[in-house]
Amino acid sequence: MERIYTHITGVQGYLPEFVLNNKILEQLVDTSDEWILSRTGISERRILRTKGLGTSDMAAAAVKGLLKKTDTDPSQIDLLIVATVTPDMVFPATANLVCHKTGIKDIPSFDIAAACSGFLYALSTASKFIESGQCKKAIVVGADKMSSIMDYEDRATCVLFGDGAGAVLLEPSTEPLGIQDVILRSDGAGAKHLHQKAGGSIKTPSRRTVAHKEHFVYQEGKHVFKHAVKNMADVSAEIMERNGLTGEDVQWLVPHQANKRIIDATANRMGLEEEKVMLNIHKFGNTTAGTIPLCLWEYEERLKRGDNLILASFGGGFTWASIYLKWAYQANPSSSSDLSLRA
Ligand code: UT7
Repeated sequence: MERIYTHITGVQGYLPEFVLNNKILEQLVDTSDEWILSRTGISERRILRTKGLGTSDMAAAAVKGLLKKTDTDPSQIDLLIVATVTPDMVFPATANLVCHKTGIKDIPSFDIAAACSGFLYALSTASKFIESGQCKKAIVVGADKMSSIMDYEDRATCVLFGDGAGAVLLEPSTEPLGIQDVILRSDGAGAKHLHQKAGGSIKTPSRRTVAHKEHFVYQEGKHVFKHAVKNMADVSAEIMERNGLTGEDVQWLVPHQANKRIIDATANRMGLEEEKVMLNIHKFGNTTAGTIPLCLWEYEERLKRGDNLILASFGGGFTWASIYLKWAYQANPSSSSDLSLRA
């Protein structure tokens, strides 16, 4: 039997309008544009400020744009997965709400929580549905409203994160492009260094947890940094080695955008020059599950059919992952809908 490959056949992003730049953060906490830029590479990030809107609204905007741009009717979609750590609610799944908001009905839809590696975990999961023949058109979304779990009095975390969503359409093909190989890893021992203390089943919400700001992101930055540098580089090098790729064979690294220094270390280990590295951290900060699909969206018109891409991530869990894929289409600039949404 011929092997079925999962091709990405479209990508779309959504970013909220409000720009929270380093100068504004200087007014909120004891920090400086110089510190943030030199330690992280971030100049500004987008924040979803409209009351009553959540992760599903950003995800739905990306999905609607994707359907329009790829000329796909909602009735053709037969799987939708949302990767997020900031679901609209504990339940139902944000994916269920995204389907409802976009006119996609009666299909399997669910969330995956793997923090900054969520998009790669979800992409890999959806590809199994495609490759088994169970699904013909699947959508994978990476979306996070990180501002909803951010303490804007904590300079160690609030300068790092932003809000945004990116979505890809997946379809089967016997042409040997698309997803070639996947590595997914996790280690729960890392949880103590990066987590949200309250709001789950161990520490249910109470006045005390709110007073102690336990619904915000807690991160021991230095510790996470050490693991991120090693694991993201390791997993990227490993997937290259086992597929016989050198730096010359790889056209693009699509790294999770947590810190420019982590990205540089990964590119360096892979033997890739800066021009081959997708970057959006300076404009959007760390959008958690959104970083990788938002990179693909922004760089879409520069990607050529057959390009070798390495997608790589590290984040809460700890989770880390890499995916080797061959880009499957040439974007047509005139067909890219809603360019105004691109930042
Ligand atoms: O995507 C999820 C995974 N997350 C990551 O991969 C993040 C990994 N960690 C990092 O990117 C970095 O550790 C940070 C950007 C979070 C911090 O950078 P760092 O170089 O590791 O700084 P640090 O935490 O060691 O702090 C150095 C100093 C400290 O002051 P003292 O103790 O040396 O006086 C901090 O209090 O910088 C201080 N500091 C700040 N100063 C100005 C921490 N945050 C700030 C700030 N502005 N925003």
